[in-house]
Amino acid sequence: MNAQGHVKDPKLAEAGVNRIEWAEREMPVLRQIRARFERERPLRGKKIAACLHVTTETANLMLTLKAGGAEIALCASNPLSTDDVASALVHRYGIATFAIKGEDPETYYQHIGATIDIHPQFTMDDGADLVTVLHTKRGDAIQHVIAGTEETTTGIIRLRSMAREGALKYPILAVNDAKTKHLFDNRYGTGQSTIDGILRATNRLLAGSAFVVLGYGWCGRGVASRARGLGAHVIVTEVDPLPALEAVMDGFRVMPAPEAVKQGDIFVTVTGNIHVLGLEHFRSMKDGAIVSNSGHFNVELDLDALRKEAKSVRTVRPFVEEYTLPGGKRIFILGEGRLINLAAAEGHPASVMDMSFANQALGVEYLLTHAKELKANVYPIPVALDQEIARLKLEALGVRLDTLTPEQIAYLASWQQGT
Ligand code: NAI
Repeated sequence: MNAQGHVKDPKLAEAGVNRIEWAEREMPVLRQIRARFERERPLRGKKIAACLHVTTETANLMLTLKAGGAEIALCASNPLSTDDVASALVHRYGIATFAIKGEDPETYYQHIGATIDIHPQFTMDDGADLVTVLHTKRGDAIQHVIAGTEETTTGIIRLRSMAREGALKYPILAVNDAKTKHLFDNRYGTGQSTIDGILRATNRLLAGSAFVVLGYGWCGRGVASRARGLGAHVIVTEVDPLPALEAVMDGFRVMPAPEAVKQGDIFVTVTGNIHVLGLEHFRSMKDGAIVSNSGHFNVELDLDALRKEAKSVRTVRPFVEEYTLPGGKRIFILGEGRLINLAAAEGHPASVMDMSFANQALGVEYLLTHAKELKANVYPIPVALDQEIARLKLEALGVRLDTLTPEQIAYLASWQQGT
């Protein structure tokens, strides 16, 4: 490993370039931001440490930040990186990247450490592992950091808890909370790519199968609606009455997990919580149940307990492990319980990541001028920025809006007029 990066194989770079360019075609908002960044160079001289899923779309974000003048070090936010993309970033685009598919926890944390070694002024995180390492083991580098951004729900939960305990040392923009992020990326991106991952791993027909979605947040809504679209009978489990009610009115059956596990053929956890499916659940499942996770960390399934209980474990197809329980029942776990859309498929389609990463790029630009006014807390993306991204996306899609008439503007601003 050197300062230029740590990737699997330089020979994969060309394949990576082709795929990065393929994604770029679907990222018109980021392309526009990149063109402006090239002209204005707003990030000139700034160092950014980024810990994100290393995908073709992330590569396009890195190229945008570089076009803006930033020096970047990128590492993976889980062991599911794409080796050809990582290789292209280092060997074709000169962006320090530390990511190897299947890396063990020790290498994973060494890679995070390598991005901190550049002494960044900004952090860009997905799941808050980078921020956590900076605040615990690498306090030496924290004085240089001005601010950061966080991509996902799980990271924001961790950062809010740091802020509550007074542990957070610099302000963070919650990219996930932008409407142009979670309404599209979490819902349509996770919805489609999670199903894609399950299908690539299993080649199962969804039509007519009982498909259980655990958690009806933004990701769960997307997964449930896409599974229904393919003809599955969708069952939802929830712990919060509001999303549970929404799932009922959306036409899904809602029931507690101990009942759902007896009925399901295919399971997906998308809660951001720990041990949502544990040993008691696995024991009650049907023979041949297929179980996957699309939540951020691989803790949603209690695989340690399942492994201890199992008589045998064997790989039956790529991304499919068969656990045989003492009575002979078989449970199939996909992608070792890691995000199935990244393990067995290619993560979100570029078109939704276009908006998520536009929030990242414009978020860092915003922090450049506004970080001084912010305390060490978690802040939403400014509404104006969110709206600007939606406007640019609509423009790229060739969709036009109506505008309010002066009469309508006056009406909406007044309270005197009734019937
Ligand atoms: P959310 O907060 O909108 O929804 C999570 C839902 O799970 C909530 O409604 C909550 O009440 C429910 N829940 C919590 N514990 C539960 C339990 N034990 N049983 C049933 N339901 C439970 O979060 P969002 O945005 O849907 O994200 C969910 C997870 O997916 C997070 O870890 C997030 O980081 C991750 N994520 C994954 C992506 C991917 O590419 N696979 C993309 C975006 C987010």
